[in-house]
This record gives sequence, C-alpha cells and structure tokens, in this order.
Amino acid sequence: MSETLKAVILYDSMSKGGSTESAINSIGMKLAEEGLYVEKAKCKANADYSFVRDFDIILLGAPVYYFVVASQLLGALVQGNLKKNLKRKKIALFLICGTPGTMAAVLYLPQLKINLVGNRILAEKIFSPAMLTTEDAIDDFVYDVLEEYDRAMRSRTKLQWTEDAQELLETLPPFMQGGIRGLVEDFAEEYGYKTITREIVEQARSEQGK
Ligand SMILES: Cc1cc2nc3c(=O)[nH]c(=O)nc-3n(C[C@H](O)[C@H](O)[C@H](O)COP(=O)(O)O)c2cc1C
Repeated sequence: MSETLKAVILYDSMSKGGSTESAINSIGMKLAEEGLYVEKAKCKANADYSFVRDFDIILLGAPVYYFVVASQLLGALVQGNLKKNLKRKKIALFLICGTPGTMAAVLYLPQLKINLVGNRILAEKIFSPAMLTTEDAIDDFVYDVLEEYDRAMRSRTKLQWTEDAQELLETLPPFMQGGIRGLVEDFAEEYGYKTITREIVEQARSEQGK
C-alpha cells in the first residue's frame, strides 16, 4: 500500500476570514479530497519551521499588501529558519492580490522565489479575490501541484542504487529506510547523480546532519 502524502499550507494574512483564509481552506479541502493528509499553519517570521521536513509538499500562500508579499511569510523565509528547512522540498506557491496579471507575476512571485533557488516549484498561481469564488481556479491549481509532484516522483524512480548503497540502507531499522531513501534521492537529484553509490549515501547523510 502506498503511503499517504502529507501536505502543509504555510500562509500569512492581515485579515481574519479574508480571501487568503478562504483560499487555503478550499485548497486544503481539495487536497484532502484527493487523498492527502493536510495541515495548515499561519506563519510567524521567527517560528521554528523544522516540522516542515515531515511533509512531502509544502504550499506557501499569502496576499500582497502595498506591493509586498505579506510580511510574516516573507520574514520566515528571509530572517527565520523556514528557508533552511525547505531545502530540497517540493513547493507550490500561490499569491492573492487585486491585480493578478503579468505585472504581478513579475513583481510579486520573485519576492518568494528568490528565497527558493534550488527547490522544485511544482506550481505557482496568482489569484484575485474574485477568482476564488469559482472552484475551478482552485481545483486547477491543486491538480497542477499533484501532477507535477507525480512527475517529479516518476523521474526519481529512474535512479539506480548500487548493491553497496542498498546494503548500507538496509543496515537501518526498516521503519527509517523509506524516509532515508527519499532524502538520499532528493540529494542525488539536486546534484544530478543518476546512480546512488555508498559514497553518495554517506555524503547525503553528512549533509543532512549539518
Ligand atoms: C492594505 C491593502 C493593500 C493592498 N495592496 C495591494 C497591492 O499592492 N497590489 C495588489 O495587487 N493588491 C493589493 N491589495 C489587494 C489584496 O492583495 C487582496 O485584497 C487580498 O485578497 C487580501 O487578502 P486578505 O483578504 O487575506 O487580507 C491590497 C489590499 C489591502 C487591504
């Protein structure tokens, strides 16, 4: 049986019950409908984000106020430890703003993406509050995220493990093997290795410990 995918939505907004909260609730419900385990967490710039390592997909979402992405999410990336904990994670981005055109893509998305160099961005979307009233926009975004995640995982199955590397993995307790396999494969993917040797497992392990 395949393991349930886990997604977390990290968000920020100045409003209670505003369009950002409505978007994350709809996105969360759709992901859950598609069989994922979903959590949401409102960002504080200086919070500890080590918990995100337990999730397969991390969605970052925020509105734009006065040309800047909401400050606690941006602060978590720029000053806090979110960026460090997102290393090699698969991410989806969504913004909510009054004018979701090309200018918004040029002005606002890079405020997040500049902090995510090296991450696989599964999908990115800018919604206007009006777009959130039609379910299609949210559904399409969620399908894009899941399709890209599947694609990323399919390309990963082409990674070969040498016998040595496989033996090293099997020295670990069985319940840890799946997680460590994923970390090593993320590492191999980032550095462009096609075959996973014992040395690569050790490199990935020592980097993870840093
Ligand atoms: C104070 C304020 C400033 C805003 N500044 C911008 C902006 O610079 N660019 C933009 O496209 N939309 C802007 N908007 C529109 C918001 O991004 C949009 O209404 C969003 O849905 C607000 O999210 P919320 O309901 O979670 O607060 C602004 C809205 C407010 C209330």
